[in-house]
Amino acid sequence: MSLRLEQISLKHFRGAVQISLFRFDPSKRLVMIFGENGSGKSTVVDAIDLMFNGGKGSLEGRSSTSARDHLPSLGRSPSDVEIEVGFESKVLTGRFNRSGTLTVTPSAATRHPVVKVLR
Ligand SMILES: Nc1ncnc2c1ncn2[C@@H]1O[C@H](COP(=O)(O)OP(=O)(O)OP(=O)(O)O)[C@@H](O)[C@H]1O
Ligand SMILES: [Mg+2]
Repeated sequence: MSLRLEQISLKHFRGAVQISLFRFDPSKRLVMIFGENGSGKSTVVDAIDLMFNGGKGSLEGRSSTSARDHLPSLGRSPSDVEIEVGFESKVLTGRFNRSGTLTVTPSAATRHPVVKVLR
């Protein structure tokens, strides 16, 4: 069976200007995130996409944006960002270096949930 994401914590990533923790029930086949415009749906999905696939998520293809400048919350620098994802009792942590490249520890090679985002 494929691995299921159990939780994600965001710190200074996009709209998550405060530490934000989301827990998902891994026993459920489907998780639905819904909310008003601007409530943070894309922030959560972009963080999951970034951790497992890299890239700028919903900012991809927008030439005027860069990971370094636009993925940290406004007024924050790349080194302030921290993303943690939990699954199967494991926690992966993502941090940017100064140039905006994400490093995932313990290792991006760890078996992890497969993430596909359809936009
Ligand atoms: N880098 C950032 N710094 C600060 N605030 C940001 C940043 N990126 C996004 N936001 C703000 O965070 C909030 C959530 O944005 P997000 O795009 O995640 O919402 P959404 O629920 O996907 O909205 P929509 O329904 O319009 O797609 C918005 O108020 C947005 O302006
Ligand atoms: Mg959105």
